[in-house]
Amino acid sequence: MTTSTKGTRTTFTPLTVTSAINDPHDCLIITFDTSEHGDRFRFAHGQHVNLRHEFDGVDVRRSYSICSGAPDGELRIAIRQVPGGVFSTWATDELRPGSVVEVTEPTGHFTHDLDPAVARRYTFFAAGSGITPIYSMIATILATEPESQVALVYLNRTSLTSMLIDDVHDLHDRYLGRLRVAFAFTREASGSELLSGRPDRARFDALVDAGFLPADADEAFLCGPIELTDIARDALVAAGMEPASIHREIFTTKQQGTVTLAPQDVTETSVVVATGTATLNGRQSDFEVYEGDSVLDAVQRARPDAPYSCRSGVCSTCQAVVRDGQVEMAVNYGLTDDEVARGYVLTCQSTPLTDTVAVDFDA
Ligand code: FES
Repeated sequence: MTTSTKGTRTTFTPLTVTSAINDPHDCLIITFDTSEHGDRFRFAHGQHVNLRHEFDGVDVRRSYSICSGAPDGELRIAIRQVPGGVFSTWATDELRPGSVVEVTEPTGHFTHDLDPAVARRYTFFAAGSGITPIYSMIATILATEPESQVALVYLNRTSLTSMLIDDVHDLHDRYLGRLRVAFAFTREASGSELLSGRPDRARFDALVDAGFLPADADEAFLCGPIELTDIARDALVAAGMEPASIHREIFTTKQQGTVTLAPQDVTETSVVVATGTATLNGRQSDFEVYEGDSVLDAVQRARPDAPYSCRSGVCSTCQAVVRDGQVEMAVNYGLTDDEVARGYVLTCQSTPLTDTVAVDFDA
């Protein structure tokens, strides 16, 4: 699915919270009122929004996947309560119905084209908060493709830490016969020995063999930490699934505490290593890259409206196309191989390899 991101990653809109539910499964479930904004907050299943709040003058941003079915149109997110996490602690303590939060429009490419006329088989794997986009995808597919079948393995430490577990049960009951769910736990006995204990490669191979994670599906979607989605993908490929049919989104737990979200200060001893031009929201700006800068850092000095959220190569909010010159990325958990082949980079992870670079955030 092609999704335009022009402007949607840089514009924060104040939205009113309509409900804020402290879910007993370690998360806060928030719903926003988008009724005054037309189609601006319409989303595709699997997409996310960025939230922003200022803590003691520091602008802190977080990406959250939308965890409602796209046909419902309700903008709902679930915030995992991270011990010591500045954003999740603030959200849990402060957000109530009527609170106002700054939110970007939905964006992201962890989605796909729906076709009500086809009968497809889908395999889903979610670990921890990876259930949030997966829930949106499954709810949307089941509502939109009446002949499609879905298998989900949802892995957590225990049932008590399983976000949205009640929603998944409800979905299962609503689509009996079309949605098969296996709850797997690392620190709790489950209904089957196969679904309890250490999630290593042997266990994933067994889950594939037993049909909990069918490798003969048309498409597979995986979401969770990189190590687990790596193992799940490898097990599916070893069982014969085409890598191109396996899609994944990496969730990281790095977004903890207040992190420095501004470029380093430029001093008399700072050394310029490259120069560049950024196209953003239809306007071009020149920038200088100092030693130690990422491309995003450098662009931000000239354009404070440059889009970002995680700054760790996961959310893709900072993505841009390199129009001129070359950069190298330290890590890339957010872009697909196809996007990289088309010239997209994560600017928060990019450093220039050439004296000049031109990056286009509007692409
Ligand atoms: S800001 Fe999240 S990938 Fe760059």
